[in-house]
Amino acid sequence: MRMEPARTEDGSDTSSYKFMGMKKEMTMMSDKEIVLVIAFLGLILFKAPMFAEGRAFREPGQAEYTFTYSATSCRAHSASLTEYGGVGDGVTSNTKAFQDAVNDLSKYADDGGVQLFVPAGKWLTGSFSLTSHFTLFLDQDAVLLASQDLNEWPVLKPLPSYGRGRDAAAGRYQSLIFGSNLTDVVVTGNNGTIDGQGASWWQKFHGGKLKYTRPYLVEFMYSDGIQISNLTLLNSPSWNVHPVYSSNILVQGITILAPVKSPNTDGINPDSCKNVRIEDCYIVSGDDCVAVKSGWDEYGIQFGMPTEQVVIRRLTCVSPYSATIALGSEMSGGIRDLRAEDILAINTESGVRIKTAVGRGAYVKDIYVRRMTMHTMKWAFKMDGDYKSHPDTHYDPNALPEIANINFRDMVGENVSIAARFDGIPGDTFSGICIANVTLSMAAKSKKYPWTCTDIEGMTSGVRPAPCDALPDQGPEKIGSCNFPAESLPIDEVVFQQCSYRMSYS
Ligand SMILES: *[C@@H]1O[C@H](CO)[C@@H](O)[C@H](O)[C@H]1NC(C)=O
Ligand SMILES: *[C@@H]1O[C@H](CO)[C@@H](O)[C@H](O)[C@H]1NC(C)=O
Ligand SMILES: *[C@@H]1O[C@H](CO)[C@@H](O)[C@H](O)[C@H]1NC(C)=O
Ligand SMILES: *[C@@H]1O[C@H](CO)[C@@H](O)[C@H](O)[C@H]1NC(C)=O
Ligand SMILES: *[C@@H]1O[C@H](CO)[C@@H](O)[C@H](O)[C@H]1NC(C)=O
Repeated sequence: MRMEPARTEDGSDTSSYKFMGMKKEMTMMSDKEIVLVIAFLGLILFKAPMFAEGRAFREPGQAEYTFTYSATSCRAHSASLTEYGGVGDGVTSNTKAFQDAVNDLSKYADDGGVQLFVPAGKWLTGSFSLTSHFTLFLDQDAVLLASQDLNEWPVLKPLPSYGRGRDAAAGRYQSLIFGSNLTDVVVTGNNGTIDGQGASWWQKFHGGKLKYTRPYLVEFMYSDGIQISNLTLLNSPSWNVHPVYSSNILVQGITILAPVKSPNTDGINPDSCKNVRIEDCYIVSGDDCVAVKSGWDEYGIQFGMPTEQVVIRRLTCVSPYSATIALGSEMSGGIRDLRAEDILAINTESGVRIKTAVGRGAYVKDIYVRRMTMHTMKWAFKMDGDYKSHPDTHYDPNALPEIANINFRDMVGENVSIAARFDGIPGDTFSGICIANVTLSMAAKSKKYPWTCTDIEGMTSGVRPAPCDALPDQGPEKIGSCNFPAESLPIDEVVFQQCSYRMSYS
């Protein structure tokens, strides 16, 4: 089998591309024209009737396949996992095939980059690491099956901003797909699947049998320019997607599914990251659908790396025991400038929830939420100043978090049990809470007092049911007080290219 990029586009006037061994110079054309040229070459070279996305058999024993997708960069080179000894039978381990492929293909990093194609099949694998200027593409019927063999999972040191692992104080298993100190990486597919086979890990967790912290499915550390898109992530051992100490992160079109009672199966957790865009994701999980973090108590304070400039949009969340979007509880590097819009929560415990505690220090501030719809919720609004959960007993009791400028507007909820539970910290009032144009229909069996507020201050405008005294209604003309920022974030300027690749089997 051989495979070539049908076209790469670098945005310059002339793009040079290799097409089944022929080198062509072409001046810039519209997408449509290029597709036509490629189709025409296809006709000449293969006498193929036409090829669209998907498989088309041209002659007995011969097949060709083209596919197109959007990515922040297209690659000049491409290879298939099968060229490195990959076997997609669901039984043979492919850890070595993946790692050999990445190691060998890293030679193209400075020569236009490379795509590793994973064809249809069940590819059992342990953890492997990616390289820079690299795309991992999973075909629609490709399933990565996470190995159950602990020897297939290297152990890393705890994260410096956490001081220890979450499940066990010692190390942590490296994520299934891992990258550190990388730039320009794309993990995408035509909705291909990454199956964490988490059940055995959940059992070990419940049984107290873990020596190290459970692995995540996808983690990038100290990296810049990461796209994770168009994939389905199933049954992660623990968190699903974890970018940490990284910047310019795009997560798009991801479906994440885990049993609603599975432990710590958080969806997407940006952690000490700058410039993050999460959009068009559908998440059913046993923990927070999105959890924004930045380190834990004294370790996070010392590391001092905030999560900032984050936009989350068009997220659908089902998580009956957790939050739609949690800020914290580990937030000791600070969380600021986060926007969430067009969010749908169904049968979820809470909406956008702030979790913090004495000892965390830092801040959660400049948070903006708009256009959120909620069906069947325990709490529409929730803030916890006493979340506890400390890495050890050495946290600083004087390290008080600053919670300020938290804005919500244009929200509706139905079948809500409790409108809000706001618990600030005595002597450390959560300030600048602003809620406007929110209508909540309460569940039949809802509490008599829908709002509970302590150690908080702020205002409301046009909110039903009537809020607590700490959030007085300033009248309908004050609806603009809780406005969403008008200017966009730098991550919204990122443009996708259309990348086309073709391969032929013989
Ligand atoms: C993901 O798939 C959708 C629909 O198939 C497509 O419109 C979108 O461009 C894809 N996104 C990426 C980043 O590949
Ligand atoms: C990765 O980057 C971090 C932060 O810049 C640095 O401390 C670390 O040494 C780097 N690791 C490697 C293997 O280069
Ligand atoms: C991707 O696959 C999942 C699981 O089968 C499915 O629920 C989802 O609708 C698919 N997404 C797209 C865009 O096809
Ligand atoms: C309303 O919420 C309750 C749980 O509080 C749930 O049992 C019930 O099915 C929900 N009703 C509707 C119509 O969704
Ligand atoms: C109030 O919110 C609803 C959506 O919940 C929206 O349709 C409406 O336009 C908002 N009103 C104002 C004045 O912005």
